[in-house]
Amino acid sequence: MARAALFNRLTVTRLSMPLIRRAETSAWLMQDEQRSVTEARTTRGFEEYRAHVGPSDLYDVSSAVQFNLLTALGLREAHYLLDVGCGSLKAGRLFIPYLRPGRYFGIEHLPWLIQESIDREIGADLVRIKRPTFSDDNNWTMSIFNRQFDYILAQSIFSHLPQAGIRRCVAEAKKTLKPGGIFAATFFVGLENYEGDYWAAKANYTLERMRQLVEEEGMACTPIDWQHPDPQQWILIHHPGTSVPLAQASDAQRMHMLKEQLALSNQQLMSIRSHPYVKVGLKVKFFLMWIPVLWRHVARLVRDRFAGTRP
Ligand SMILES: C[S@@+](CC[C@H](N)C(=O)[O-])C[C@H]1O[C@@H](n2cnc3c(N)ncnc32)[C@H](O)[C@@H]1O
Repeated sequence: MARAALFNRLTVTRLSMPLIRRAETSAWLMQDEQRSVTEARTTRGFEEYRAHVGPSDLYDVSSAVQFNLLTALGLREAHYLLDVGCGSLKAGRLFIPYLRPGRYFGIEHLPWLIQESIDREIGADLVRIKRPTFSDDNNWTMSIFNRQFDYILAQSIFSHLPQAGIRRCVAEAKKTLKPGGIFAATFFVGLENYEGDYWAAKANYTLERMRQLVEEEGMACTPIDWQHPDPQQWILIHHPGTSVPLAQASDAQRMHMLKEQLALSNQQLMSIRSHPYVKVGLKVKFFLMWIPVLWRHVARLVRDRFAGTRP
């Protein structure tokens, strides 16, 4: 806890800059984003802290979706919650009042976002009463709080992270998630997997690859059918053997997976068809298909000719 980056029990005073100094630059932060952060600090208006974490018009519904999901999964006021990449407290503005004092923890490498959200969303009095704890660690170090959590939340984080970042989060969750605990995360389902090394505007993964990444870190992954306004897929990451609520795959989810498989197969078929040897083969096949027709035609012509000349 001695680490300077941890602003333990954030008080009503503004987040003073000495508390949030970091030695290194985030490995996951693109240079563009660094620049936009600097610009945001100087030009931000009333809505900037909201717009920084996604479409402003979805801010309220996304708060509600996160709160509803975790409470449906069993979160109660005495539980400990870690909000990874908590941003402008989209989820925190509902969880902080709900949980008992000292139960909400957040990791966010841009403390101005948290400060702005405290000023404009929840107010200093609530911070004094509920004593949330924040860290500006930029390497997803969930163990920085030296405690175990009942629930961990990473909304719209895997949807930007490279594979190494996702692995890092899962490995940290393995250390910090209580037995029976649940880590709820979202990501964009795609037909291909993001192979880059940096935080991306949109990093797609197939459900299969996401499952692999989680399992290779020794955890289990259960997709669930829960709404998301963006839309992203919700998954529950948990210790193997934990039975999780909402785990039943719905018809909609099964249909979605089938569609994903179908699209993938079509894509593979297209790439096979575009191979030069296959192209030649298809042309030969086309030619061969016409040979019997041509043969019958020629045979008929010959037969007619000879039939006409017969005495
Ligand atoms: C798309 S936003 C999602 C925020 C929040 N979870 C929500 O639901 O609104 C991603 C958040 O992750 C934060 N972030 C990006 N890289 C980070 C890092 N290396 N360490 C901690 N937070 C990071 C961003 O500043 C931003 O607030």
